[in-house]
Amino acid sequence: ENEVYQAGLKGEKPPITFNCLEWEGLAKEQLSADSYGYVWGSAGARETDDNNKKAFKKWGIVPSRLVKSDFPDLRTTLFGETFDYPIAMAPVGVQRIFHPGGETASAKAAEQEHVPYILSTASAASIEDVAKANGNGSRWYQLYWPLNENNDITVSLLSRAKAAGYKVLVVTLDTDLNNAYNPFIRPDDIGVALGFSDPVYRRKFEEKHGKPIEEDMGTAATEWAHTVFPGVSHGWEDIKFLQEHWDGPIVLKGIQTVADAKRAAECGVQGIVVSNHGGRQQDGGIASLDVLPEIADAVGHDLEIIFDSGVRCGADIAKALALGAKMVLIGRPYIYGLAIQGEHGVRHVLKSLLGDFNLTLHLSGISSVSAKHLNRSVLRRIDN
Ligand code: FNR
Repeated sequence: ENEVYQAGLKGEKPPITFNCLEWEGLAKEQLSADSYGYVWGSAGARETDDNNKKAFKKWGIVPSRLVKSDFPDLRTTLFGETFDYPIAMAPVGVQRIFHPGGETASAKAAEQEHVPYILSTASAASIEDVAKANGNGSRWYQLYWPLNENNDITVSLLSRAKAAGYKVLVVTLDTDLNNAYNPFIRPDDIGVALGFSDPVYRRKFEEKHGKPIEEDMGTAATEWAHTVFPGVSHGWEDIKFLQEHWDGPIVLKGIQTVADAKRAAECGVQGIVVSNHGGRQQDGGIASLDVLPEIADAVGHDLEIIFDSGVRCGADIAKALALGAKMVLIGRPYIYGLAIQGEHGVRHVLKSLLGDFNLTLHLSGISSVSAKHLNRSVLRRIDN
């Protein structure tokens, strides 16, 4: 992030603008209407998405002066591990829609920038290929959770992820039905999706239809979508099954209430992502940032709290951390980078966001991301 600052001092112009507000427009120029619709898409009248973004503007950072400090310490510790920065790349499905490099390009950028990469179950590249691209990076696996009748597929996905070095399991809970982007997923893109590389799914398909997946990609795509978005939910009692089949940290993604956060803690998982899926699932929802403080107050001592939905710039990262998160997931912005310039574009977005974040803390007199320095005392609620 220092690199961005130094380049700026030298007056070096980057190939892509540092202005985070312009990435969306640049990505739009690169993409077809359908592909852009997939990343931009939000549920219904986009109320939840709007609320997510407006919520950040209801808080202002109050800076302190004459604080003796070097560049702020951005390291954060979760699950007993220290990460260089308090951001990670959110799971985003079928990334080949945005760039031929897809998930492998994003995972390479993640390793280069020392930012954890969360691979989606709906990936367009296999668990193993993404692990290879990510090299020595920190990688986590996001599960779209098949129903109990398909537990053998779940176990297969988890054991492959474990074997390929994914350390944290992120279980997404807000997509029993896949809302916003169904119309934008094309069979060609999903044809290489992760489900098709899973040996258990392939065997089950062949047993049922008497032919391999390659001979009927359309049916395979539909059935895979039903497997991971079954339209019926699991219950809290099912979490035990995941704990029996995953020996690392488990994080529940999509939590929006104190009651659910407490249940997560009671179940013995290690973390939650306070998220509404970037407003892509349920419309008319409260901003994810608006529920963060009460959830952090209730379970911050029992669970690692990760936040996403609506983060667009360095100040947004600072606000989410000040309100109780230990890590923030970046969703659409890195996908804009991927669409603009593949791996390089993703690196640029990550560097820019971290540079902006670093500068925000430094100029606010906040010397580290620990709750000792970055907490609610640096924010003031603004009624607008
Ligand atoms: C997503 N998201 C998502 N989440 C998940 O758990 N599994 C997935 O496969 C996907 N796929 C996906 C595709 C696209 C195109 C987008 C934009 C998002 C949600 C993602 O992880 C994250 O919660 C949101 O993107 C955060 O909101 P912002 O930062 O995009 O506003």
